[in-house]
Amino acid sequence: MRVLVTGGAGFIGSAVIRHLVLEKGYEVLNIDKLTYAGTLSSLTSVEGKPSYRFLKIDICDAAAIASAMSTFRPDRVMHLAAESHVDRSILGARQFVETNILGSFTMLECARAYWQALLPLDRSRFRFLHVSTDEVYGSLGAEGAFSETTPYDPSSPYSASKAASDHLAKAWARTYGMPVIVSNCSNNYGPYHFPEKLIPLIILNALEGKPLPVYGNGTNIRDWLYVEDHARALDLIAERGRVGETYNVGGRNERSNIDVVRRICAILDDLQAIGRPHENLIQYVADRPGHDVRYAIDATKLETELGWRAKESFETGIEKTVCWYLDSEWWWAPLRKGYDGRRLGLLKAGAG
Ligand code: NAD
Ligand code: DAU
Repeated sequence: MRVLVTGGAGFIGSAVIRHLVLEKGYEVLNIDKLTYAGTLSSLTSVEGKPSYRFLKIDICDAAAIASAMSTFRPDRVMHLAAESHVDRSILGARQFVETNILGSFTMLECARAYWQALLPLDRSRFRFLHVSTDEVYGSLGAEGAFSETTPYDPSSPYSASKAASDHLAKAWARTYGMPVIVSNCSNNYGPYHFPEKLIPLIILNALEGKPLPVYGNGTNIRDWLYVEDHARALDLIAERGRVGETYNVGGRNERSNIDVVRRICAILDDLQAIGRPHENLIQYVADRPGHDVRYAIDATKLETELGWRAKESFETGIEKTVCWYLDSEWWWAPLRKGYDGRRLGLLKAGAG
């Protein structure tokens, strides 16, 4: 099995590659532009293996993508490369439009040309998995969960750009008959998570005795999934998912942001005498513009059709994650030098 993964130097992409190379024994080509979020040090466990290759390519570069496809000859494409941080999209939407929309368009067009030229058996086995987010569905009230038929209603430039790319992917399936599948997942957490996102930012700020910024009143709810559970789900969807379908991925682990932050503080209190109680560092700050109130994923289709189950509960996953950050300064210290945790995405300078 030969799998081309885009965005493999990122948080989820690197977990997917570690799974495919180390657990499944697949051959993998990682295509990544290495933006601020791309970190090859997340892939030290596969580096040097003959079954793993890396090319530094921008997914908007059609000639480079076409050449990589014709040389590597993938059985599957798993497309994860994206600008992924909501706060960055608020003041810098252009890069999100370019990478998430035009880059996905380029990936679809290059894959279509490659797929159409395959021999019939290879053509029938080929799959293109477009990896997306639950944020395309917008915000939930107190009740209910997103299903695969929930109408799209994105709130941020990030989620709007992901929604646009999902529509392109589905159109390529319907119009050209391309074997495309779309997955929409809830919030991931775990090792190798860039420290701009809530969980790693809170862990590292707490370790350094810095304020723990909680947006608004902290009651916004996210549905957390351990990243290795997501990686297994993506492999399963690419292998056994039905062409033209969408699969929601989520671990049924809804938590308010303030509960997540308090849980991290409690784990650190147990593990580290210095800085106790870490909760004293919590600071409520100005809310994110357009902040979605609640996400929750109904993953029944993935569970019943493909037999997937999340292995980690939030309790086990968050403990593993905190321990990983305590042991992995070698990974995060260079990233903290580049991005020190300052607030991103506020419309009024100085607020919050
Ligand atoms: P990430 O920001 O950690 O990684 C993104 C990777 O894409 C980086 O390695 C970056 O260098 C690369 N990249 C960015 N622009 C590129 C370009 N133009 N060409 C080639 N490579 C480029 O993101 P992530 O959290 O790992 O998310 C991966 C995918 O999963 C994204 O499509 C995201 O929308 C989706 N997703 C993320 C989550 C989550 O909670 N993190 C949840 C659901 C879906
Ligand atoms: O739902 C899936 C999405 O989850 C993915 O598509 C995105 O790529 C991923 O970044 C994530 O988006 P969120 O905006 O939910 O994640 P973030 O970690 O930025 O924020 C999680 C929640 O915590 C959100 O309600 C905002 C809040 N927050 C975030 C930060 C960075 C804070 O309260 N304080 C913070 O400092």
